Amino acid sequence: MNQIQKDNQEPVDVVIMAAGKGTRMKSSLPKVLHRLGGRALVAHVIDTAAGIGARHVVVVTGHGATDVETALEGTVAGVTPQFARQMPQLGTGHAVQQAAPLLPDDGTVLVLSGDVPLIGADTLRALVAESAGRRLALLTIEVDDPQGYGRIVRVQGQQDAEGEVQSIVEEKDASEAQRAIREIYSGVMAVPARLLKTWLARLDNRNAQGEYYLTDIVGFAAVDGVPVVAHRTDDALQVAGVNSPAQLAALERAHQLRQAHALMAQGVRLADPARFDLRGTLVCESDVEIDVNCVFEGAVSLGADVRIGANCVIANARIETGAVIHPFTHIDGEKAGVTVGAGALVGPFARLRPGARLGAEVHIGNFVEVKNSTLAAGAKANHLAYLGDATVGQRVNYGAGSITANYDGANKHRTIIGDDVHVGSNCVLVAPITIGAGGTIGGGSTITKSTEPGALTISRAKQASYAGWQRPQKAPKS
Ligand code: UD1
Ligand code: MG
Repeated sequence: MNQIQKDNQEPVDVVIMAAGKGTRMKSSLPKVLHRLGGRALVAHVIDTAAGIGARHVVVVTGHGATDVETALEGTVAGVTPQFARQMPQLGTGHAVQQAAPLLPDDGTVLVLSGDVPLIGADTLRALVAESAGRRLALLTIEVDDPQGYGRIVRVQGQQDAEGEVQSIVEEKDASEAQRAIREIYSGVMAVPARLLKTWLARLDNRNAQGEYYLTDIVGFAAVDGVPVVAHRTDDALQVAGVNSPAQLAALERAHQLRQAHALMAQGVRLADPARFDLRGTLVCESDVEIDVNCVFEGAVSLGADVRIGANCVIANARIETGAVIHPFTHIDGEKAGVTVGAGALVGPFARLRPGARLGAEVHIGNFVEVKNSTLAAGAKANHLAYLGDATVGQRVNYGAGSITANYDGANKHRTIIGDDVHVGSNCVLVAPITIGAGGTIGGGSTITKSTEPGALTISRAKQASYAGWQRPQKAPKS
């Protein structure tokens, strides 16, 4: 076993600072609950912490603490975050002091920020390996405009990547010369817990902002002879923070472009990676094509040869092999899910709601809504129709403008339509009701009683004609 593998076995405990106000968001929602890719900023960070197998994840909350804590309960698989309240917020060092009692002495502590959502698991693993149970490892990056960030100060005459790190100086405390340094602290560090705790106890707030700076521990490490290593990343996206709506939007686009490119690398054909949004997970088999301006939410999976037309919104759905979703279709399976069978055709302008289960070769056309209904293979509802709480047999043809009246004002009831039924246009099927297999419902019928297999059922006023009918005339103007 090499040294890095051995070092990686140290348990890792994560502290996520999320107590700040986020004034520049100008929002009543706590900053870390704003969404990137459909998920709260801080939830991304917790996901990543879970991904590296963190033992404890402690979220430091302050502004909007109750909202943040409530929002995060049960949102991340595989880890239960603990919360440490920081009231009032006296700086990043003070934030980590609040978390310290929850951090065992034998671990490596990774300090992350709740508003830096795209930090990567590989980067964190590398940083923990650099810390190696005995060093302070800082994640740094060289930027063109270092304004506002803590500068990495190295021993004099060694201001290059090899020089020993002496301290981090915050913008407001920095000298002219220090402000020229372009290597900045990203806000992410890995540090052995036992060392961190001794240094936290020594922090003070004698600085330009009157805050307890976590970054002051770098100076203590240097004094104590503990090696400080700066691990440089060149991926600005991973350390980008969100402070304003404009920054949030910019990060969202960058994140979406990255997801789009990852899908294209797997063979997915996106008409335009810049006009693609994934707010959840999208699993695609081979030869999937997705036209412009589609939004995918929750968990969506697309079978081989599926085609998605322009301007579709698809959430929590499974689309089977060869199905085609035409433009402007809205599919949202919510909790119950939606399935679209192999070779089915859906849209344009169709709406599939939770519990819609379409079999193979089903056709759902424009302005057709399907909810909590199963359509067996080959069934068709091509125009202006509603199927709710229905079980529809194979090869059924469901006419334009027909609806299942599934709701009596208090309860929902089921409609059962047997195989090979033909429902004419503009029918109302009042549930609970069963239309026997092979039956026909005449257009314009309101059906309130179940029908026998094979029967033609018509329920509408008899047609009458009056020959030579004279319409009323307007009285002549006087
Ligand atoms: C911090 C670093 C700076 C670094 C920069 C990177 C310090 C002193 N400075 O500066 O070196 O370049 O991040 O973005 O650490 N927070 C709390 N409680 C507090 C204060 C802050 O939880 O009392 C949280 C914030 O919500 C945020 C994070 O800590 O998630 C960072 O705080 P912020 O005020 O943005 O620190 P910076 O001044 O940007
Ligand atoms: Mg900041």
